[in-house]
Amino acid sequence: MQIKWGENAVNGAPVTWDSSRVVNPHIGLFGDTGMGKTHNIQKIINELLETSTHNRLRFHIFDAHGDIEIEGASTVHFHESADFGFNLLELNSDPEFGGIRKRIQSLITAINKTSTRLGHRQERLLTRLLTGLYRDAGFIITDPSTWGLSPERPAYPTLLDAIDYSRQYLHSVYTGSTSAAVTALQDVNKLVKLIRAREVSLQRMGGDDPSIEKLQRDLDAAKQKAILSYTEAVNGVSSGEELDMAIESEGQEETLRAVIDRLENLYGIGIYRSTPPPLDPRNPVWRYVIKALESEEKKLFTMTRLETLFTRAIQRGVQSEIRDVVILDEAHLYLEKEDDYIVNRMVRELRKFGVMMVFATHGLNDYTQSTLAGLGTKIVLGVDHTYRRVAATKLMIDEPTMNFIVPHQRILAQMKNRGETNTVTHRVLLNS
Ligand SMILES: Nc1ncnc2c1ncn2[C@@H]1O[C@H](COP(=O)(O)OP(=O)(O)OP(=O)(O)O)[C@@H](O)[C@H]1O
Ligand SMILES: [Mg+2]
Repeated sequence: MQIKWGENAVNGAPVTWDSSRVVNPHIGLFGDTGMGKTHNIQKIINELLETSTHNRLRFHIFDAHGDIEIEGASTVHFHESADFGFNLLELNSDPEFGGIRKRIQSLITAINKTSTRLGHRQERLLTRLLTGLYRDAGFIITDPSTWGLSPERPAYPTLLDAIDYSRQYLHSVYTGSTSAAVTALQDVNKLVKLIRAREVSLQRMGGDDPSIEKLQRDLDAAKQKAILSYTEAVNGVSSGEELDMAIESEGQEETLRAVIDRLENLYGIGIYRSTPPPLDPRNPVWRYVIKALESEEKKLFTMTRLETLFTRAIQRGVQSEIRDVVILDEAHLYLEKEDDYIVNRMVRELRKFGVMMVFATHGLNDYTQSTLAGLGTKIVLGVDHTYRRVAATKLMIDEPTMNFIVPHQRILAQMKNRGETNTVTHRVLLNS
């Protein structure tokens, strides 16, 4: 596949990106507002489509502004009241890369990245709840052979199931017969303690305490109640989990309510539904318009989607050609500085697996050093003079070369081809 950037200003030769020659397919576009980032994204997609020699190419356009128009693209608008979305609890059944523990962990990471961090207790409780939810649906955390779908396990639980499950848990733990029995036993103990304390002080001080008689009557009543509650609890044991649940959940009601709140908020964003979005499987261009989402929600959406693409790519194995092109316009919305962050890992690890990443940002500060170095091609469309020095340093471009740029007419294209020791910075005249 090829992309023609324009002509070399020095010798008139075409400056062309060639997927079979570049060290890696990733591209970074840098430019201020109006310099043509979105315009170039459209150009990249159209030229890749035109020059692709196989029909297994798929573009994933994360369209934060809703302005990346591509003719014939399969476009879906994600918003709060959409009745489709992605299932956040869908498992990857690969024993090495997939599984329940990983899924739960990335869900927790996603929540933590986009809103206040979950507390330690909340994390533990959420993990326990989700593990139970999967287990009840037949997916066992320690048994990879249960992670795929089968006639006995026809569907993965959904976020809505997780909310229902947690609410039921709340209900059964805090109003269930086992915890009622535990509470009744606690009441008996409290009353006995009180009576003993009174008796001790009576012995010391002498005299009479009529309240003891009253307490004794209360104790008798409490004992009766406890006996009845225990009878009910014993007869009511159905899953065998009741006692563990009651003991483990002691004093955790508030934590549980907070966790349910978090899950409900996540559901409220409207991007996690069990009905998949109406993207056309025969169309090579999938455009996710996420304009209507808040910026944290955009990030959450993109992160979870990228995670699915990541694991699918690894499972698919090493590829000799590009299969997925991920387009991140306004990429500052999704970039993070941690090395193990999904976007950074994709740049580093997915080249061999046929995944190409395209970024567009104003400056270069949002990238980690290694992610920036991992972009085989960098296109400088025009950088405001306040950023120019940083840009020049990070890209190792000298001032006169930087000054070559004239928006919409002259750009710089840095490409590293296989077998070349240096990255070449081309001064490019645009054709239009
Ligand atoms: N090389 C070009 N030749 C002619 N017109 C161009 C060129 N590049 C961009 N334009 C036009 O300039 C305008 C702004 O471009 P574009 O929307 O791509 O900028 P952008 O860098 O994505 O800006 P923003 O940061 O605001 O999203 C558009 O109308 C686009 O068609
Ligand atoms: Mg733009």
